Amino acid sequence: MRFLLTGGAGCIGSHAGVALLNAGHEVVVLDNYINSSPEALRRVEKITGKHVTVYEGDCCNEADLDRVLDNEPVDAAVHFAGLKAVGESVRIPLDYYRNNLDSTIALCKRLAAHGIKRIVFSSSATVYGDQQPPMREDMPLGVCSCPYAWTKWMNEQILRDAVVADPEWSVVLLRYFNPVGAHESGLIGEDPSGIPNNLMPFICQTAAGMREKLFLFGNDYPTPDGTCIRDYIHVMDLAEGHVKALEYAIEHTGVETFNLGTGEGYSVYQVVNTFETVNNLQLNKETVARRPGDLPVSYADAAKAQRVLGWHARRSLEDMCRDAWHWQKLNPRGYRQEEDL
Ligand code: WQD
Repeated sequence: MRFLLTGGAGCIGSHAGVALLNAGHEVVVLDNYINSSPEALRRVEKITGKHVTVYEGDCCNEADLDRVLDNEPVDAAVHFAGLKAVGESVRIPLDYYRNNLDSTIALCKRLAAHGIKRIVFSSSATVYGDQQPPMREDMPLGVCSCPYAWTKWMNEQILRDAVVADPEWSVVLLRYFNPVGAHESGLIGEDPSGIPNNLMPFICQTAAGMREKLFLFGNDYPTPDGTCIRDYIHVMDLAEGHVKALEYAIEHTGVETFNLGTGEGYSVYQVVNTFETVNNLQLNKETVARRPGDLPVSYADAAKAQRVLGWHARRSLEDMCRDAWHWQKLNPRGYRQEEDL
């Protein structure tokens, strides 16, 4: 099969590219590189020994989409492209709504015009809002805590309505929990621009000496050690979930939603301790006040993806911490080369 990956040069998109190529599929990428690098795709080719067809363009732009779809017959699309920073989405909500909703609408319109009515969408566990975990796909969705999460929620609704209007569509909504780690080769990984917001990249940059200290946000939550609990999932497990989701989309019509998580929660202290132990180092760290907006506990009920897709996460927290640090050590500046600085 041949799949279009919008945002395929990003962190999750590039890992999914590796998983799809390794499973014997072909991959076409559309990316505007506003928050990613073409170098990631060269490395996907290096890891797999296979070719990636690449188009530079914007998924909100129907002409860019047509340029790809006129030339590349694909069986389905995975829509990774989107703005994804929670804090930024609070500062510039209109940009988030415009980009994240326009791109989905434009993509669906142009796919349908080319007779391709299959899409896998990158949603997020943030659509559950502040509910009692484990999060189940059939829970009523909660109140989202930021514009980023609302764009995921709204995109899910847009795609559900597209299926109601045209039952030939096949839509798979994937709700990611907390993806971390990197491909075991250390060739591709997460390359945050500026100061990382998320825990694992901040840990890695602190271990590398790029940040003076890791701040741990709050140890007075109602959890066993007082720190927040999340469902961290290795990005290669997440990537392999996309292979199963696409294969499912090929065989079914209608809409299905799946959590992609391990089903297991770890606290901030557990993540930090595991990172220090498996990598045999000590982080300079300090526990400080809570970060506003953080939920105490979030983890998936991962049973549906196992039951329906035959997929479950196989890699451990140790693997996530080892692979994240391996990528960081090999690529202290991410995909940027010395001469770019
Ligand atoms: C995890 C825990 C922090 C940084 C967000 C988005 C979600 C998804 C993943 C999409 C929390 C604590 C963090 C630090 C810390 N993103 N922490 N020190 O908030 O669960 O989810 O990222 O792109 O949609 O909402 O993940 O990694 O930011 O935080 O103590 O420097 O680590 O307080 O408890 P989160 P996270």
